[in-house]
Amino acid sequence: MRQQSLILTFGKTLLNFKIKFKEQNKLGTLTPFKTSDGSYSLHSSYFEEHFHSSIGALKESYEKYIYPYNFSQLKSKKIIYVLDVCFGLGYNTGALLESLSGLQKTLHWFGLEIDKRPLSIALNNSDFNSIWSQDIVNFLKEINNAGYSKSEFCNAQMLWGDARKELKKIPQGIQFDLIMLDAFSPPHCPELWSEEFLSALAKKIAPKGLLTTYSRAAAIRGSLRRAGLLLYSLKDATSNYKSWSKGTIAIPTNQNPSKTLSQSFIGEPLSLMEEEHLLTKAAIPYRDPSGESTSNEILSRRKTEQQKCLLESTSAWNRRWSINS
Ligand SMILES: C[S@@+](CC[C@H](N)C(=O)[O-])C[C@H]1O[C@@H](n2cnc3c(N)ncnc32)[C@H](O)[C@@H]1O
Repeated sequence: MRQQSLILTFGKTLLNFKIKFKEQNKLGTLTPFKTSDGSYSLHSSYFEEHFHSSIGALKESYEKYIYPYNFSQLKSKKIIYVLDVCFGLGYNTGALLESLSGLQKTLHWFGLEIDKRPLSIALNNSDFNSIWSQDIVNFLKEINNAGYSKSEFCNAQMLWGDARKELKKIPQGIQFDLIMLDAFSPPHCPELWSEEFLSALAKKIAPKGLLTTYSRAAAIRGSLRRAGLLLYSLKDATSNYKSWSKGTIAIPTNQNPSKTLSQSFIGEPLSLMEEEHLLTKAAIPYRDPSGESTSNEILSRRKTEQQKCLLESTSAWNRRWSINS
């Protein structure tokens, strides 16, 4: 009896160790590469994806995560709340800190990230360090070493681990002015694009806040809309079908978009083409009711739902709008 329980305890410890090891090494092999604006980035062998678009890691951070939000509408607000979902090397937060400097605000910041390696690898690269001011490098080093950073103007807490679980640790009353959602693409990381996770994020947006993401996927937009948010499409300056959208901005419905969205924001409500995209099979959401499903479980659940549903096929929508990509 005693032997059996010892074997059981050993088995459980081994399993926990394996889960922990898998979580800490979630990204597999990380390979550095340089993007077109000269900024440094990584490729994950596990997710089979680059962390940033080849156009430029830093450029992408500003265009998709910082420029859309009108920080000046928060004139009378002394504290700004920001959530960085999928912190990675920290570009989005670095660009945020750079943009807030001089605004005389206190930043209350939470970060969600499963793997500590991208930040520590980046901090060992001189090209990466050279794009930031010393204050920002110091901030990133504190996050890397201690998981938090506290100063007169900043109260930052990193929550290392699976974002689905860690999100629940953020105190209930906190509502974010800006949520930056930068997970790997939905087919490769569906757990962070599920109807349930997006709905949980939506509940954390402040009345004058917004959520911004590079994703233009119909499934993601559908989930954000069902979570009660108004959708805007992030446009390319030279908008054409091939680059019909660079991402999605979602804001609470009771807001005045002309105040929340910055004047330099290149975007507009979804076009007819984008609305029709939400009526195709591509709009079937990723479902993760337990918040613990594996990516394969989420993908196969969605595939079954797509096969059963009577919505228009996405390829027919592509043909109707002559979209190649
Ligand atoms: C596209 S990269 C983010 C890039 C990042 N925003 C930057 O500026 O470098 C996606 C990140 O999501 C993280 N990730 C993947 N699965 C996760 C999970 N379940 N919970 C939290 N983070 C996760 C990866 O470790 C990776 O750093």
